Amino acid sequence: MERIKIHDKFFKIFIPHEKIIEAVSKVADRLNRDLKGVDTPVFLSVLSGSFMFTADLLQKIEFQCDVTFIKLASYNGTESTGEVKQIMGLSKSIKGKTVVIVEDIVDTGGTIVELDKLLRAQGAADIKVCTLLFKPGSYDKNVKIDYAAMEIPNDFIVGYGLDYDQLGRQYKDIYVLDPQQ
Ligand code: IMP
Ligand code: MG
Repeated sequence: MERIKIHDKFFKIFIPHEKIIEAVSKVADRLNRDLKGVDTPVFLSVLSGSFMFTADLLQKIEFQCDVTFIKLASYNGTESTGEVKQIMGLSKSIKGKTVVIVEDIVDTGGTIVELDKLLRAQGAADIKVCTLLFKPGSYDKNVKIDYAAMEIPNDFIVGYGLDYDQLGRQYKDIYVLDPQQ
């Protein structure tokens, strides 16, 4: 589909599925290389947006690893509220572990900063950030973004797990807000 309507807005195709999978494979290759010798890293998937990325990424991981989830929310419609809410907390101890945060998108970085604080407080030995998408033009924090599968401009996108007001997560491609509404 070239153009979709979600709620009141039109979105146009931006990143087709094949390109997404290509980028996910490249990031998986880097993780397989970098974390090979590490004792059972924990992939921490940040719900809800990263569920598709997590599924595709983890299928390509070749070392033994643990997977766990946390649910956060910071967006209201197409704008970041700047406040990150924890809706479902960590259910597993990450003390002494290498934790790979799996995010759908790093935008202002508010979510990553909060997660970094939380994981440090809980005694993580090492924290890596792995995101499908990165908006460098919007990011103004100091936490290192270790793995970014793709960099994009500051536009609002949906699909492949990402939502606009809870809709649009099911699309296999990524769409961007169409300037022609
Ligand atoms: P940050 O805290 O500003 O970095 O934003 C992080 C969260 O906001 C992401 O994990 C997404 O869930 C959501 N978000 C940021 N940009 C977009 C977007 O363009 N579309 C949909 N959700 C987004
Ligand atoms: Mg997210």
